[in-house]
Amino acid sequence: MSIDSVDHGKRRFLTATATAVGVAGIGFTAVPFVKSMNPSAQAQAAGAPVEVDISKLEPGHLMTVEWRSQPVWIFHRTPEELKDLDILTTSDELRDPNSDVTDQQPSYNKNSYRSLKPEIAVLIGICTHLGCSPTFRPELAPTDLGKDWKGGFFCPCHGSRFDLAGRVFKEVPAPTNLVVPPYRFLSENRLLIGENPGDNA
Ligand code: FES
Repeated sequence: MSIDSVDHGKRRFLTATATAVGVAGIGFTAVPFVKSMNPSAQAQAAGAPVEVDISKLEPGHLMTVEWRSQPVWIFHRTPEELKDLDILTTSDELRDPNSDVTDQQPSYNKNSYRSLKPEIAVLIGICTHLGCSPTFRPELAPTDLGKDWKGGFFCPCHGSRFDLAGRVFKEVPAPTNLVVPPYRFLSENRLLIGENPGDNA
């Protein structure tokens, strides 16, 4: 399975008028991880875990893979972005800063960054309002999103806003944080989307 896109989030350098991030042809690979082709290879492939090589995913960049017909974003956060997430956690701007809505992430991702490794975010790229696809907006304080914007995801359909951990802001239509799918690391640079840590150990 191929990567749909690779977005470059050089957030500190994007102009205020940028509304989309660039796409480059970096050769990421993601392949279905199918342990057995029986009894129905097609059915299994449709729900099979997806293995992703993130070795070329640099800080500030986002890649998209498909799992169960859904876009899954994998984003390499910078140390600066992690600090901004810490600030947001205690800012009273987020609806569910501590991921208390349990359906939105596996329990092992109920932490400040909603991830197994702080720097690597894994999110299903579907808005929790009515299912549009939010845009990746890593830049700081763009004109259209305001001076307090610290980077995140913006849904153009009805204006919902999420931070770089997929946590929803207050006073937007989306009721909950973006979903974190089950995933685990196979090695330092290989992710398996669709299985929990310890599965098949
Ligand atoms: S679908 Fe995203 S804000 Fe409505």
